[in-house]
Amino acid sequence: MAVSKKKRTLDLNKIPVHIAIIMDGNGRWAEKRRLSRSVGHREGAKAVREIVEEAYDIGVKYLTVFAFSSENWSRPKEEVDELMRLYLEYLKNAENETSDKDVRVRIIGSREGLSDEIIQQIQKVEQKTVDKKRMNLIIALNYGGRQDIIQAVKKMVDDIEKGVIEKRMITEDELQKRLLTEEIPEPDLLIRTSGEMRLSNFLIWQCAYTEFYYSPVLWPDFKKKHFHDAILDYQNRSRRFGGVK
Ligand code: IPE
Ligand code: IPE
Ligand code: MG
Repeated sequence: MAVSKKKRTLDLNKIPVHIAIIMDGNGRWAEKRRLSRSVGHREGAKAVREIVEEAYDIGVKYLTVFAFSSENWSRPKEEVDELMRLYLEYLKNAENETSDKDVRVRIIGSREGLSDEIIQQIQKVEQKTVDKKRMNLIIALNYGGRQDIIQAVKKMVDDIEKGVIEKRMITEDELQKRLLTEEIPEPDLLIRTSGEMRLSNFLIWQCAYTEFYYSPVLWPDFKKKHFHDAILDYQNRSRRFGGVK
């Protein structure tokens, strides 16, 4: 069997259109240093900046980062409070940091449980960047894949009752249109850091044909170089979507 030659350098003409990242390992990063988990989360927020910049520079069109899952509410209250403080700060900074960049910021997830201050800041940054085009930065905050599917099904049932669509029109496309990711293409590459190999309720519908990449690096240590390694690995894969090559 002919083995195709492995690429060793990043092909900038074949950058995945949509990269999704499960930023995991902040807590362990801090615990290893005998620091509080909060310090890990703060370091994690810095790592986000570097990766967002790099994604922008190399031409990623959609970057989705998992910041807080629907299940993360089960953490100790102090940790949740600290995380919410960091998200608010991040969203406030995002407003300024993206002002000279062509980045549209969107936040997907449930607004339930979020403070008014965060909700207002979400609206502000989304509105301010709505016309930006080069890159979409999608922050999954209070997001759960199952919850996303449920809310899409509810919308579909509503639309059937209102006569907007008929039962025979229940298709993948119609459901997809009602997900929180409606006009965002499915991720091509999903990166999870910290060595865990699970989806943890992230984009479960959207990742049906996504390429998964697991890195042992803890999120605060995840740098540009590791990001490139993940993309290079992706570029050496063969996607078949159920067909044959
Ligand atoms: C990811 O790091 C950040 C969030 C889930 C909010 P963790 O906090 O899950 O870090 P570990 O997995 O405990 O190391
Ligand atoms: C997934 O990480 C959620 C985020 C990175 C925001 P978790 O650390 O919450 O996932 P589990 O609990 O290890 O599956
Ligand atoms: Mg974790």
